Amino acid sequence: MSENAAGVRELADGNELPVLGLGVWQVQDGRTCVDSVRWALDAGYRHIDTAQAYGNEESVGRALRDSGVPREEVFITTKFYPEGGDPVAEAEKSLRRLGVDQVDLYLVHWPAGGPTRAWAGMERALERGLARSIGVSNFSAAELDTVIAAGSVVPAVNQVLFNPWHRRTRLVEACARHDVVVEAYSPLGTGRYLDDPTVSKIAGALGRTTAQVLLRWAVQHGLVVLPKSTHQDRIAANAQIFDFALSDEDMAVLDGLDETGGTEQAHENKWW
Ligand code: A2P
Repeated sequence: MSENAAGVRELADGNELPVLGLGVWQVQDGRTCVDSVRWALDAGYRHIDTAQAYGNEESVGRALRDSGVPREEVFITTKFYPEGGDPVAEAEKSLRRLGVDQVDLYLVHWPAGGPTRAWAGMERALERGLARSIGVSNFSAAELDTVIAAGSVVPAVNQVLFNPWHRRTRLVEACARHDVVVEAYSPLGTGRYLDDPTVSKIAGALGRTTAQVLLRWAVQHGLVVLPKSTHQDRIAANAQIFDFALSDEDMAVLDGLDETGGTEQAHENKWW
């Protein structure tokens, strides 16, 4: 496999999702965001993850157009800001900001007002072709069960905080039972696990960076990873995760760092 040939996961609805995406949470709108997305596309990323709440959809759209990479080659995710408003009307606004006709994936950003509140509107956005797939983010196993029981479309994806310290085994297993692909946000712990001695030891032995080890660990668990960076060299290096593998022993050592007790919850510090 060539170094940047990121794999793809097939979603339950038949659409394909690249395993590596650039996350742009906390990336400042304007030049910083445009450059970061552009560097990612230049480095071979074909998946960008933004949200209405991030305030940088216009910059994502500008970088996409400037890159010259054909629209159909890039998987674009945005997320419905769930504290009010209508998912259809808000999707239309996102499409205008992004400058595209359709997003590839549209997620309920968190289960504000309960897991089902936004879902009928999300299904309408799908029916109207505003998104090719719909899903959720920050949903626990119980919340996923509830939305699946109430809706007619099963969420294609659940995007959650996931890294060795937040392994959420029971949530990941619940998603697998429903054929819901799990996406890892903050796979580097928003940067705070990059100097961890356990990860550093494994990285040193493999001649890899700690970021690459953390991303590879999540990929080997079958997740999609969404690392964030605003530095060109880091963005490029974070994509070099498809030309090596962690041994079963290294996987087990990293698995042992979990502090969630294998929880079925999506978050320890809910803001909603
Ligand atoms: P920066 O944006 O300044 O490059 P997460 O993906 O878990 O949210 O982590 C993102 C954080 O990790 C950001 O602060 C980012 O900083 C930093 N980061 C991302 N990739 C790397 C890397 N390869 N080396 C060092 N820091 C990184």
